[in-house]
Amino acid sequence: MILVTGSLGQIGVDLIRELVLIHGPKAIVATDLREPASSESNGVTFKLLDVTDADALNQLFDDNAFDTVYHLAGILSATGEEDPDLCWKVNIEGLENVLKSARERSIRVFWPSSIAVFGSSTEKSMTRQSARTDPYTMYGVTKTAGELLCRYYARKFAVDVRSLRFPGVISYAAPPGGGTTDYAVEMFFGALQHGSYECFVSEDTRLPMMYIPDAVKSVLELMQVDPADISIRTSYNVTAFSFSAQELASAITKHIPEFRCTYTPDSRQIIADSWPRSIDDSTARKDWGWKPEFNLEGMVSDMLKHISAIRKHESSQESL
Ligand code: NAD
Ligand code: SER
Repeated sequence: MILVTGSLGQIGVDLIRELVLIHGPKAIVATDLREPASSESNGVTFKLLDVTDADALNQLFDDNAFDTVYHLAGILSATGEEDPDLCWKVNIEGLENVLKSARERSIRVFWPSSIAVFGSSTEKSMTRQSARTDPYTMYGVTKTAGELLCRYYARKFAVDVRSLRFPGVISYAAPPGGGTTDYAVEMFFGALQHGSYECFVSEDTRLPMMYIPDAVKSVLELMQVDPADISIRTSYNVTAFSFSAQELASAITKHIPEFRCTYTPDSRQIIADSWPRSIDDSTARKDWGWKPEFNLEGMVSDMLKHISAIRKHESSQESL
């Protein structure tokens, strides 16, 4: 049995869809803070779960023979700066609760870290696996501490916990949940809905990114690797491509010539500026063969195709 926490979030929705295809809906228990809408159910069992509630989490583990946990519940960078206490509580106490439950039951755990572990004193280009961590945000602090907690549980208690340092993830099925890289998703919806978008980072802001099919692929591939081949128990650097906000706008304009993007940086600019521009993921490539499928152009045309189909479906439902 598989447990997914934070299952209704940007990554959870797509990961569950793929897990259902592989294992079937009966093998999965999805959890989050709110009930799913009927369109979000995927036929899996759903339970309300706050990951900071250790008793409720333990009860769920007692009631189900889980062998794998995808622990996605979390507070992202921008929301985390608005409420750093909540960010620490959910990201660190939640992770510790999951690791403790896994330790007692020999359960494999996946937990995503982030490029937010890096900061202003970190090398900015092709940031290496071993580069200095220097988080600027509370979110980055929790990801750095979380990585060390994962490695501690792997060494001390032999918990098979695996992790990826995701760059900004771009997807269309579920809205992003309060991150700094959300502009890269919002720009598509702005272009298709209004023909314009006011971007909250400057046009030359360049960050590493990944399209959701590659993000899901990376998680599933990492979880298949022989434990002996995993040399990194903090978190693997992974990336697909890097682009500036202006380069993304230009790539969208090739499909929607009338699209206009303006740039009004807000408090998220300083967070974006603290992160690497590109990532060296050669350790992940060497250890378990990581290789993304989508480049910028492929991602842009696929995103526009899917969002257009969603909009068409929604307007046909409205006219019924
Ligand atoms: P999201 O905000 O879209 O989803 C997170 C989910 O966690 C939400 O559905 C939310 O309701 C749930 N949640 C929040 N607090 C909770 C609690 N106390 N108990 C249970 N559930 C709770 O985020 P996401 O983009 O799906 O991210 C999932 C994970 O991946 C997070 O750990 C995030 O830090 C990490 N990550 C995401 C990105 C990205 O670009 N999306 C990049 C790097 C790392
Ligand atoms: N996309 C995430 C964020 O912006 C990075 O971890 O918070």
